[in-house]
Amino acid sequence: MSTTPVKVAVTGAAGQICYSLLFRIASGSLLGDTPIELRLLEITPALPRLEGVVMELDDCAFPNLAGVEIGDDPEKVFDGANLAMLVGAMPRKEGMDRSDLLGANGKIFTGQGKALNKVAADDVRILVTGNPANTNALIAKDNAPDIPDDRFSALTRLDHNRAKSMLAKKLGVNVGEVTNMTIWGNHSNTQFPDLFHTKVGGKNAYELVNDEAWYENTYIPEVAKRGGAVIKARGASSAASAANATVEAMHDWAVGTPANDWVSMSVVSDGSYGVPEGLISSFPVTCKDGKYEIVQGLDLNDFSKKKIAATVDELTKEQGEVREMGLI
Ligand code: NAD
Ligand code: LMR
Repeated sequence: MSTTPVKVAVTGAAGQICYSLLFRIASGSLLGDTPIELRLLEITPALPRLEGVVMELDDCAFPNLAGVEIGDDPEKVFDGANLAMLVGAMPRKEGMDRSDLLGANGKIFTGQGKALNKVAADDVRILVTGNPANTNALIAKDNAPDIPDDRFSALTRLDHNRAKSMLAKKLGVNVGEVTNMTIWGNHSNTQFPDLFHTKVGGKNAYELVNDEAWYENTYIPEVAKRGGAVIKARGASSAASAANATVEAMHDWAVGTPANDWVSMSVVSDGSYGVPEGLISSFPVTCKDGKYEIVQGLDLNDFSKKKIAATVDELTKEQGEVREMGLI
C-alpha cells in the first residue's frame, strides 16, 4: 500500500453532486485503501457551506482520508493534484439543453485549464463532469498546452450506465450481464448508445432485443434524454448517479477496466472512426495502468455511421462556438 496520499482535486465541492461524490471518494470507492488528500475548490460565497461539508467528512472518520484542503484559488487548490474532477458548473433547468450552458460555464474552464497547466502533478488526469462536459473538457485542454491531450476526459459514464440499466430492464436480466456497451459522441441529446456491439450474457444485444422500432424510437431517445427526465421528476439535475458515474470513470481510468469489457469515456479523438482529431468525443475504451486506449476495429453499419456523424457534428458546432467566444 502506498503511503503518500494521492491528491484528488474536486471543483464545485459544495454542490449537490459533490455532496455524494466526496464521501464516495473518501470511503474508498475511488482508490480502495490508498490514502487520499482531498483538495476542494469552490467560489468564495460557497466556502462557508463547504466548511460544513468538511465537518461532515471529519465526522465520518474515514481512515484513508489523509487530509482536506479547501479554497477559492485554483492555483492553490490544484497544486500537485494527481487526479482532478471538474464538477463545478451551473446545472441546466427544465426546458434547457446542456449546450445552453456554454456561455455561463465555458469560461470557468479557461481559468481552471490554465491553473492545472501551471501547478498540477506531472501525472495529472482530469475528468470533466460540469456541463456541457465534452466542450468544457475541450476548453480546459486547450488552455493547458503543457499537459498531454490524453490526460483529459469528459463524463459519458452516466449515459453508459443508463444505457446498460435500460437494456437490462427490457430484457429482464441483471445489469451485470450487460457488457461492451458504447456511448458514442456528445453527452447530449444526440449521443448514440450502440447496441450492435453490446453483449448480454455473451450474446449480441441488438439480436436479443430484436425490435428495431423500440431501439430507434424508444431506447435511443430515452437514454439520451434521461438527464432531462430526472430534472423534470426531481426538480434538480441528477446528483447521486452523476457522482457514482464520476467515481467509476476515474476509478477505471486510474485502476483499469475488467478483462473482456470496455467502458464509454469521452476522450480526445485521434481520428478513430472518422471523428475529427482533437474533438473530445465518447468512444469505447479500455484502461490499464492509468492509460486508456480507444477500442479499434468495430464494424459500423450505415445506421451507426449516421448517428455518430450527427453527434460529432454537434461537437464540431460547439467547438466553433467556443472558438468564437475566445475560450479556445
Ligand atoms: P450545483 O449547482 O449543485 O453545484 C455546482 C457547484 O459548483 C456550486 O456549489 C457552485 O458554487 C460551484 N461552482 C461554480 N463555479 C465554480 C468555479 N468557477 N469553481 C469552483 N466551483 C464552482 O450543481 P451540480 O448538480 O453539482 O452539477 C454540477 C455540474 O455537473 C452541472 O453543470 C451539471 O449540469 C453537471 N452534470 C453533469 C453530468 C454528466 O453526466 N456529465 C451529470 C449530472 C450533472
Ligand atoms: C445528466 O445527464 O443527468 C446531466 O448532464 C444533467 C442534465 O442536465 O441532464
